[in-house]
Amino acid sequence: MDFTWEELTPAQRAQHDADWQAGKGLIGGDPRKRPNFDTLPAWGMDRPFFRALALDDGRAANGLRFRRRTAGAHPLEIEIGFGRGDFLLDRAARMPERWFVGFETKTKAVRLALRRLEKRELENLWLSDDDARVGLPLAIPDQRADAVHVLFPDPWWKAQHKVKRLFSPPFVDLLAAKLRPGGYLHLKTDVEQYGEMVRHLLSRHPAFSEHTPELAARVGPYLPTHREHWCRENGKPVWACYFPKRAAPSTMA
Ligand SMILES: C[S@@+](CC[C@H](N)C(=O)[O-])C[C@H]1O[C@@H](n2cnc3c(N)ncnc32)[C@H](O)[C@@H]1O
Repeated sequence: MDFTWEELTPAQRAQHDADWQAGKGLIGGDPRKRPNFDTLPAWGMDRPFFRALALDDGRAANGLRFRRRTAGAHPLEIEIGFGRGDFLLDRAARMPERWFVGFETKTKAVRLALRRLEKRELENLWLSDDDARVGLPLAIPDQRADAVHVLFPDPWWKAQHKVKRLFSPPFVDLLAAKLRPGGYLHLKTDVEQYGEMVRHLLSRHPAFSEHTPELAARVGPYLPTHREHWCRENGKPVWACYFPKRAAPSTMA
């Protein structure tokens, strides 16, 4: 699971750090080097918020509470890049018996969603402004997730932006490690070639079976994300794919 992080000059690093402080989300370079990434921000203390590198920050009980919940038996669903959080907040409200975790690199969006989830008194949803490529390996135990939702990921088509693209062979390895056998990846996109690229990557991975449309029933009724809502309003087609993780191979002698 080795990601290729973009190399930055000191001037680029300073600009990217300023962008991150301004809450702009995905910035260049190794996300583990984002400023204060290993520290719990004052606004997140004792709220349903975590940073994977700050799980042991002793100034608040966030890490302890997050680990306890994650170690429990409730089925876990994860959303990566939740944006406004419409899908995730709605899903957590519909399924109080499930445990939900959301990653979104835009800190401003995370703070907004935190306020919304507290207002709705949702007890089963925690959020992080981690880059999921760093947060998932550190905060989520292997084979723990029942579903991972990735809804309308940024395509990042230009060659120089490729390192920011979420789906890559190491990212698919990461999904394979975190999903339990029988769990599934739920992808939606309005960029047909992106869907094809993801299908290509998944089809080559031994842990996943091919797209299984029937799994839409496991998602069930849902509130569309901001992007999906926009696509509906503007008559843009949307592609939905569901990839189940295969059951563990039998170990018969
Ligand atoms: C095109 S937006 C879609 C937002 C929302 N899912 C929707 O459908 O309206 C993609 C989102 O993914 C977030 N994102 C991109 N890469 C990410 C990563 N590696 N980890 C967490 N969030 C990421 C971006 O900040 C952005 O908000």
